[in-house]
Amino acid sequence: SVSAAPSEKADRVDTIAHRGASGYAPENTMAAFRKAVKMKADYIELDVQATKDGKLVVIHDTTVDRTTDGTGKVGSFTWDELRQLDAGSFFGPEFAGERIPSFEEVLDEFRGKTGILIELKSPELYPGIEEKVADALAERNLDKPANEKIIVQSFNFDSMKTFHKLLPKVPIGVLTSNKEDLTDEKLAEFAVYSDYVNPTQKLVTKDLVDRIHDLGMQISVWTVRKPEEVEPLLKAGVDDIITDYPDYVPRNKHK
Ligand code: G3P
Ligand code: CA
Repeated sequence: SVSAAPSEKADRVDTIAHRGASGYAPENTMAAFRKAVKMKADYIELDVQATKDGKLVVIHDTTVDRTTDGTGKVGSFTWDELRQLDAGSFFGPEFAGERIPSFEEVLDEFRGKTGILIELKSPELYPGIEEKVADALAERNLDKPANEKIIVQSFNFDSMKTFHKLLPKVPIGVLTSNKEDLTDEKLAEFAVYSDYVNPTQKLVTKDLVDRIHDLGMQISVWTVRKPEEVEPLLKAGVDDIITDYPDYVPRNKHK
């Protein structure tokens, strides 16, 4: 965890529930986050976007089509409109009535119960979203080096540079699925503002993990969806595993 001393951290891997425990409940809903907490995930991961009227909301795709009973771009809905949508039925009838959560309600329910890995999803579509997320954290005193584990990440590196200037004490992660982002030169650039380099699992090697650690950063890897994917990542020495199935990762596993 972020708050653990480096020596403690080195001995264990953290489990991060991807969009909540999204193998067991509809992704990015309160049901999926509650399930993750029940499964004792160290963190929940979630995706933040914004509505037409500027409310921060938790949803992965930039349209509502796949995960709700509506259609259209997230940013074309007002909060009142978005809140009418059913975000659970796509996963199973027992989840009918789940709603798209606001970012703030997730912070308020889960802070202190589990860590929160916050992804700014396609922030280029939502100018000023960095300030809004920073404000929501600062209002809750979540912008301090914390017992409460908060990390902010994005595929958009400029957005993360902006966020780091706004809240320099909040750990930052950069996400990538491109090998070209993992040269020594690029990693050194990330180390200026970032605490984590978070690649897709197919790019993970022990050499990469060592080079990230040598720069004083950590590595959280995504997205584990099969039990057999865990062991090679532990062997490579990753710090955190981002998974739809938190129970696939052994608790407090020693590397
Ligand atoms: O946390 C990593 C992972 O969430 C990045 O990919 O598409 O699931 O947001 P995606
Ligand atoms: Ca994500």
